[in-house]
Formats: sequence, C-alpha cells, structure tokens
Amino acid sequence: MSNENIIIIGGGVIGLGIGWQLAKSGAAVTIFDRDEAGRAASWAAAGMLAPYAEVHTEEPELLQLGIESLSLYPQWVDELETDAEMSIGYRVEGTLIVGLESDDTHQLRHLYDAQQQFGLDVQWLNGRDACDIEPALSPRVNSAIHCKTDHQVDNRLMIRALKNAFQKSDGVLHENRAVKKIVIENGSVIAVQTDEGIKPCDIVILAAGCWSTQIDGIPDDMLPPVRPVKGQMLALEMEDGIEIRTVIRTVRARYPTSVYLVPRSDGRLIVGATSEEMGFNERLTAGGMLELLRGAWEVVPGIYELPILESWTGLRPGSRDNAPILGKTPIDNLIYATGHYRNGILLTPVTAYEITKLILTGETSHTISPFQLSRFLLSEES
Ligand code: FAD
Ligand code: GLY
Repeated sequence: MSNENIIIIGGGVIGLGIGWQLAKSGAAVTIFDRDEAGRAASWAAAGMLAPYAEVHTEEPELLQLGIESLSLYPQWVDELETDAEMSIGYRVEGTLIVGLESDDTHQLRHLYDAQQQFGLDVQWLNGRDACDIEPALSPRVNSAIHCKTDHQVDNRLMIRALKNAFQKSDGVLHENRAVKKIVIENGSVIAVQTDEGIKPCDIVILAAGCWSTQIDGIPDDMLPPVRPVKGQMLALEMEDGIEIRTVIRTVRARYPTSVYLVPRSDGRLIVGATSEEMGFNERLTAGGMLELLRGAWEVVPGIYELPILESWTGLRPGSRDNAPILGKTPIDNLIYATGHYRNGILLTPVTAYEITKLILTGETSHTISPFQLSRFLLSEES
C-alpha cells in the first residue's frame, strides 16, 4: 500500500506528523494547508505532555492513549531530531500541580485520589516540599502533586522539525492553499478540490483541526463533531532571580481560570491558558490577560517584574467527548485524524504512528479503535 497517492488536509502537528511517517515509508504524500503550515493550534500550544496532570476519571481510554503517547516520546524525539537535524526542546523535569488555599487542597486531593485509582506514579507534597523542588514558588503554596513523568516539548520547534523531516522524505507541502471540497464518488474518495483545480488521490486524511467540518463534500451526518475552543496565552522572559525548571500548574477552586507556567530552554516562560467557547473568535482580551497574569503571579510572585514578550490565542479542536477522532469513516479511503482538543501535542506520536500503520496495513489497531468516528454515529442511532 505504501506507493499510494495520499493527500492530507491540514499541516498542523497532526497532519505533518502523519505525513512525515507515511513519506518515510515510501508513500507519495501531499499536504495542503490553507495558511502557513503549523501556525494554528499547534503553534499556539504550551507543549505540555501531561496525561497524569490532566487525568479525568470519566475518560479512562483517553488517559491510556495519552500515557501510550507519552511513552513513545523518547523514540519520537530521537527519530525526529535525527531526521530534521535539530532539537525540539524536549524536557523531562516533570510537573508540579499546586494549590494555595484549603479549597484548592481539597480539589488537589480529589485529583490525587483519581491518579491513585489509576495507579499513576505521583507524589503528594506539602508546600515546603514543593518549594524545595521549585524555589520560585510562593510561600503561600500549601499543597502540591508532583507528576514526575509529565514532561514538555517546544511545540514551535517540533513544527519546524516536522516540516523539515517531511520535506526531506520527499513529502510535498502546499501552503496557503485551502482544500475546498473532498470529491466522493460511489461512497469512495477520489480527489480533492482546491482553487487550482481537482487533484485525484487514493486516500484523504482529514487533519484540519477545528476547521475539519468546513470542507464541502462530506455528508453532514459523517462530519467529525469538532468545534473551536479558544485559549489565550502569553510569554514572559525569565530574568536573573527567576529560574523555573518544572512545569507548574495551579488548581484554584474559587477562580474561573487555573493557569500553567511552562519554562522553555530559551528563557521564555509560557503562561496559559483560558478556555473559552467563543466560536471562531480569536481576539485577545484584557480579561483573559488579567486572569493569566493574576493566576501566575499568585503562585510565582517574582513574575511581577518580568518583561512580557508576546501574547496570542489559539483554537483547540474540541470533539464532543474531548477525545480525538481517529481512523476509518463510512466513506472508503477517507481517514480522520482530528479533535485532539487540549492534548494534540501529547498525542502526536501515537496518532502519527497508528494512522500510518492503519494506512499501510488496512487494519485498525486496538490502540485507536475506541476513537473512531463510529462512536458518535452509534450513539446517535440508539
Ligand atoms: P491545527 O494545529 O489547528 O492544524 C490544523 C491545520 O489545518 C491548520 O494549519 C489550518 O490552517 C489547516 N486547515 C484548516 N482548514 C483547511 C483547509 N480547508 N484546507 C487546508 N488546510 C486547512 N496540546 C498539548 O498536548 N499540550 C499542551 O500544552 C497544549 N496547550 C495548548 C494551549 C492552547 C492555547 C491551545 C489552543 C492548544 C493547546 N494544545 C495543547 C492542543 C493542541 O495545540 C492541539 O490539540 C493540536 O495542535 C491540534 O493539532 P492539529 O494539527 O489537529 O490542528
Ligand atoms: N493542554 C493545555 C491547554 O489546552 O491549554
């Protein structure tokens, strides 16, 4: 199957990751992106690889997928850095989730109990122990969970590396060229349509993030149920006296926004993120920035004097059940790889390896079978 002509719609981490793996296997792969590839959610993200910190008891299969992808990261980083000949800023200092007040401690306890229930390797700390690990923390921090295996990668470097590696493997990348329509005949994909005309193909992979429903040709009842969820972010510059090494996340029971602080190797400190159901509105707001800065300042007071380098927003591709939509669809040769919501950077390796395997073998593995579109189609029938 590897000599097939494959088109991928969307050049975010998901499209590029799959494209790179398929092109390496010898397939003829073309990626179309309507803008600059990698400049949407993949660029906006914080790069946390955090299945343990973001565990939800109601999503056990998603947790397993996240843990599997986290375990693939060392191999992924090694392979990608070798192929692209550049670093992608993978850091393994772990994550601290911290609380300041007794309500926060209760919420943290609840999270810790869930983590214990799933047998995750996490440690309960008092405030002083947390400050020993990360001295920049406020003395007001009164409890914490240490997730030693929740790491981070520099997603913007990863995008650059994926573009390099994809093109070095003879993948073809068309930027600023939107796919308008997927052409389907007799229940099977035969081509895509762009402003430049019709491009025939054997397989289409839809990886257009939160815009995945906006492409003509797919019957309405077979569209992937994804929507945009806005996140506002900003970056500070760490200066003398503020040197943070671990990812820090807050639990603030009485506030609408919990924040995270992600230190990069180049000295940037990423602070995020709001989570807003605002459709395709991508505006930065004063309120959003206020929430982020207040939340970050409470746990790391030293940020008060740091310069602001940048602020931005991104649209997470959220599915109806927060899990990605992966694999075959009722339309022959149309594959979905979308809806990665808050975890697309974490889930890139497992998505890229598994979708590549699916295309090369025709078989859906146990790893991705719970995440097929059919879960939505079945529940609507019943
Ligand atoms: P995108 O990166 O959005 O890429 C989709 C691409 O499709 C875009 O480039 C777009 O231009 C293109 N496209 C759309 N329509 C068309 C068309 N018709 N034709 C051609 N191209 C088209 N995840 C984590 O794991 N860890 C984090 O710490 C994290 N933090 C986040 C923080 C924020 C603020 C946000 C917004 C997201 C965060 N995420 C995080 C989630 C993660 O960024 C996403 O899940 C992931 O980037 C999705 O990748 P994607 O390739 O599916 O989508
Ligand atoms: N996973 C972090 C975010 O989506 O903000």
